[in-house]
Amino acid sequence: MDKIRVRGGRPLFGEATISGAKNSTLPCMAASLMTPEPVLLHNAPRQVRDVATMKLLLEHLGTAASWEENSLRLQADGIDEFEAPYDMVKTMRASVLVLGPLVSRFGKAVISLPGGCAIGARPIDMHLGGLEHLGATITIEHGYVYATAKRLRGTRYRFPSVTVTGTENLILAATLAEGETILENCALEPEIGDVISLLRKMGARITGEDTPTIHIKGTESLHGAEHTIIPDRIETGTFLIGGAITGGKISVKKCNPAHLTGVIKKLTENGCRIVEQAGEIQIEAPTILLPSDVETQPYPHFPTDLQAQYMALMTQAEGISRIHENIFENRFMHVGELLRMRADIRIHDHIAEVHGRTPLSGANVMATDLRASACLVLAGLVAEGDTVVQRVYHIDRGYERIEEKLRQLGADIERIS
Ligand code: EPU
Repeated sequence: MDKIRVRGGRPLFGEATISGAKNSTLPCMAASLMTPEPVLLHNAPRQVRDVATMKLLLEHLGTAASWEENSLRLQADGIDEFEAPYDMVKTMRASVLVLGPLVSRFGKAVISLPGGCAIGARPIDMHLGGLEHLGATITIEHGYVYATAKRLRGTRYRFPSVTVTGTENLILAATLAEGETILENCALEPEIGDVISLLRKMGARITGEDTPTIHIKGTESLHGAEHTIIPDRIETGTFLIGGAITGGKISVKKCNPAHLTGVIKKLTENGCRIVEQAGEIQIEAPTILLPSDVETQPYPHFPTDLQAQYMALMTQAEGISRIHENIFENRFMHVGELLRMRADIRIHDHIAEVHGRTPLSGANVMATDLRASACLVLAGLVAEGDTVVQRVYHIDRGYERIEEKLRQLGADIERIS
C-alpha cells in the first residue's frame, strides 16, 4: 500500500495549477445517465480515484465511457443494469447520485444503502424522502434501496436540512419528471450550479441556481452536451493553506477566487497577504500566523472539507483557535494523528481547541479519510524530520497527483510503497 513521505522545513514557492472539481464531476457524470446522447465533460480530474470509481459504476450500468486527456465522453445508450452494487457504493458514497437519474429515465433503480463512514453516519433519508415526494415508491430490503416509478411527477419539496448530494439527486430526478418541481432549502454549493449549467445545456429547464429555491420544469427527454467542469475549490484551499503553513509565497492558478470567499477571509485574518485575480490567487504567509476561530457551515461559509487542513495551519498560529465542526458529527479523526506529531489540541464536543504555536515533529501517521490525509501532509510540510502518511489511497480519492504538485512548489515529498 502506498505511503507519502514528507520532510518538513521547506517553504513553498511558485505556482500550482488546480484540477477540475471532484464534487462537481461526480454529479455531472451521473447526469449523463439521463440521455442516450453523448455527454462530454472537459477539465475532469482524470486521476482522482472517485472519478474512476464513478466511471466504473456507469460502465457497469451500460454506459460507454472513454477519456481523451482530461475530457471524459459518456454515452448512456446501452443501459441494461439498474443496480449500484454494495462493493461500489461502499468505496464511494457519491454512487448514490445515480439513483435520481435511473428512476427518472428508466423508472427503476436499486442502490446499496451506504453505511456510515469515517466522518459520520451520513444517512440518505432526504434523498429518499424527496424521491417519494416526486412519486417514486421506495422500499429498503437486505441493505438495498429499491426505487420504482411510472413517471415521476413535479412536486414541492422542502429539504429538512441542507444536503449537497441530496439537492443534486433531486434536481436530476425532477428534470425528467412530469410538471414543475420546486425544491426549497437547497444547498448553495457552486458544484450544484455547475450541474445545473450542464443540465441546461442538455435541454433542462431550471431556474434559481445559487439560491435556496430551485424551480425545475420537467421535460420528456434530454440531449447530449459539452461542458467544462469548474475548478476544485477544496484543492485550491488546500494549496493556499500549504503556502501559509510553510511560510511561503505561492500562486494558485486556474481556480475561481469567488468560490473561496469564506476561506480567503479567514486566511487574511491569520495575517496572510492575499491577492485575487481572474482565475488566480496569490498568497504570502506572514512572519507570525495569527489564530482565528472557525465554524464549518454550508456554502458560502467555511467548508467542512477544509476544516482538517485549517486545523493543521492553526497548530502554527500564535495563540488559541477554536474550530467548530457543524456538518459531520465525527470529523476530528485527524486530531489524534496531529497529537502524535506533538500538536496541542483539546476536543470539547464538536469544538477543537488548538493551542499554537507548537513545533511539529515528524511521525508515522494514518490517514482516515480524504481531507484528514491532506491535513497530515500539510502538517508534515512544517514538521521537523520525516512524516510518513499511511493509507494514502484516501488522498488519491480527491486530489490529482498531490505529491507532484507540492514537489513543484519545492516540497521534499515522495510516494513510497
Ligand atoms: N444528511 C442527512 N440525511 C441526508 C443527507 C445528509 O442527515 O439524507 C446529513 C449528513 O449526514 C451531514 C449533513 O446532512 O451531517 C450534510 O451532508 P451532505 O448531504 O451535504 O453531504 P454529502 O452530499 O454526502 C457532499 C460532499 C462532501 C462534503 C459534504 C458537505 C460530494 C460528493 N460530497 O457530501 O465531500 O463534505 O457535501 O459539504 O459532493 C469530500 O469531498 O471530502 C467530501 C466528504
